[in-house]
Amino acid sequence: MRVSIVTVSDRSASGERDDLSGPVLEELVTREGWSVSSYDIVPDESEQIEKRLLDLADTDGVDLVLTTGGTGFGPRDVTPEATMRIVERHAPGFAEVMRLESTKKTPHGMLSRGVSGIRGATLIVNLPGSPKAVRECFAAIAPALPHAIQLLHGDTDGGHESKKTE
Ligand code: MTE
Repeated sequence: MRVSIVTVSDRSASGERDDLSGPVLEELVTREGWSVSSYDIVPDESEQIEKRLLDLADTDGVDLVLTTGGTGFGPRDVTPEATMRIVERHAPGFAEVMRLESTKKTPHGMLSRGVSGIRGATLIVNLPGSPKAVRECFAAIAPALPHAIQLLHGDTDGGHESKKTE
């Protein structure tokens, strides 16, 4: 599975603040045995976010793009809108489960407006910006990601492997 990571943050893009969440995602993805094919930081600018997502889906053809940041209520938080503009099919389950699990940890979990969707054979998922939120949200969605990618490639076998057994 080829995974691209995009940190969306004005302050990290300008070098004012180190990006902590992108490296956390890199660590989590690598630990699953998946490969990190790119890692970028872009500012909270819709056009730049859209352009990066389009390149990753249409040119690079990666399996999965995980974004972190820009999903809140701040005036410059536009990651969900940029993502919605370029996806072709909605895949709301990932965003739904992240919010559900997040609100078990903090009521502020409700404040992430992150979305998830599909462009071509690329799944794009918005995670919130803090390293803690990234860990919590990644843990919630990781078990379903391999089968999601299989299905995107037209392979309909193997879904039983991820089913819970209890
Ligand atoms: N989700 C989890 N699991 N854990 C968290 O600590 N923080 C919330 C929320 N989701 C949080 C979380 C907070 S405080 C905000 S403001 C929103 O994510 C949006 O964050 P973002 O604007 O950095 O994307």
